[in-house]
Amino acid sequence: MKKNKISKEWIKRQRRDIYVKKSKQEGFRSRAVYKLQEINDKHRIIKNGFSVIDLGAAPGGWSQYVIQKFRNCKLLSIDLKEMEPIGNSYQIVGDFNEKSSKEKIINYFKEKVDLVMSDMAVNTTGNKNLDSVVTGELSLEALRFSKSELKPNGFFVSKIFMGSTFNEIVNEAKLTFKEINIFKPPSSRKESKESFIICKKLR
Ligand SMILES: C[S@@+](CC[C@H](N)C(=O)[O-])C[C@H]1O[C@@H](n2cnc3c(N)ncnc32)[C@H](O)[C@@H]1O
Repeated sequence: MKKNKISKEWIKRQRRDIYVKKSKQEGFRSRAVYKLQEINDKHRIIKNGFSVIDLGAAPGGWSQYVIQKFRNCKLLSIDLKEMEPIGNSYQIVGDFNEKSSKEKIINYFKEKVDLVMSDMAVNTTGNKNLDSVVTGELSLEALRFSKSELKPNGFFVSKIFMGSTFNEIVNEAKLTFKEINIFKPPSSRKESKESFIICKKLR
């Protein structure tokens, strides 16, 4: 499918989408905020006072949710794209895969954190298999980082695509965490291969 055809269909779909409308009415920057809200309603991963790393944060729906709904959270957001500031959170514009980005995150917190959440995804190429493989690599990178940077009772949440990397991520997560859940929030589009992996308590 041609790129401009994808864009036109994307615009049409966005206009019809109830979560897009709701996010505009409620002042959130993206419909993605409702996925995190639904994940948290079911799995209780965020609490007041938590230290939180938001990987692939732009345009900022997830970060807004943490800052607006919870008190005294220390939040760091990173994305390849620049985004408008959110409260007193700290932002890095950069590639999470780079060693220097990880060092910046570690230097900012100087201690282990409560929650690492990743909604990182590559820009869609139109090739669903390729997108799912590359996004799977991002998820694995986030999982490995969370293993070294989370507190023992910490939480890890990541976007994960049904596809060739799914089992690899789930198996590695099982070796790393005591509790694993796979959850597709109601606001995640049905036609999308996306789900989320929610992990608790490091082994
Ligand atoms: C689905 S969007 C995130 C939406 C966000 N959770 C929200 O609530 O607004 C995925 C983001 O991942 C980012 N991303 C992809 N690869 C990345 C990487 N290597 N490092 C940092 N961010 C990355 C993209 O730039 C994009 O903004």
